[in-house]
Amino acid sequence: MEQTFIMIKPDGVQRGLVGEIISRFEKKGFYLKGLKMVSVERSFAEKHYADLSAKPFFAGLVEYIISGPVVAMVWAGKNVVVTGRKIIGATNPADSAPGTIRGDFAIEIGRNVIHGSDSIESASKEIALWFPEGVAEWQSNLHPWIYE
Ligand code: PPS
Repeated sequence: MEQTFIMIKPDGVQRGLVGEIISRFEKKGFYLKGLKMVSVERSFAEKHYADLSAKPFFAGLVEYIISGPVVAMVWAGKNVVVTGRKIIGATNPADSAPGTIRGDFAIEIGRNVIHGSDSIESASKEIALWFPEGVAEWQSNLHPWIYE
């Protein structure tokens, strides 16, 4: 089953949105394979966002991610990478549709509450980076009630 990496950023944690966000993924039918709260080191944040190191907002993005604990998760299900990004909404909350996480809970791009892998390839890289210990080997028993 396809997997994606989802991170609730420090603002999402501080604002008490962890339960709400987990609930949205669970209610959709995805199932949780990994979950931990982590305060990441600067070097780790820089590694996670390495592809963006040349961007003018890189330093601010790294500061933001290390400003408090984050909740790192692995979610599984059919098309979870693309659908997860739809649940999250457009990167800039000014463009995120109401009903999406960012559309409902964020105003600024630099405080956009949540990260989700943008491709299957990045998902697998990010899962390996954040969960080197591996994730739970299980499949939800709801399977036949969610998939035909
Ligand atoms: S880009 O420029 O197209 O590569 O960037 P994009 O794919 O839109 O976003 C990649 C991540 O960078 C974050 N981002 C920003 N953070 C702070 N300030 C500004 N201006 C900014 N622009 C983009 C954006 O939230 C994405 O983070 P993640 O955690 O991957 O969602």
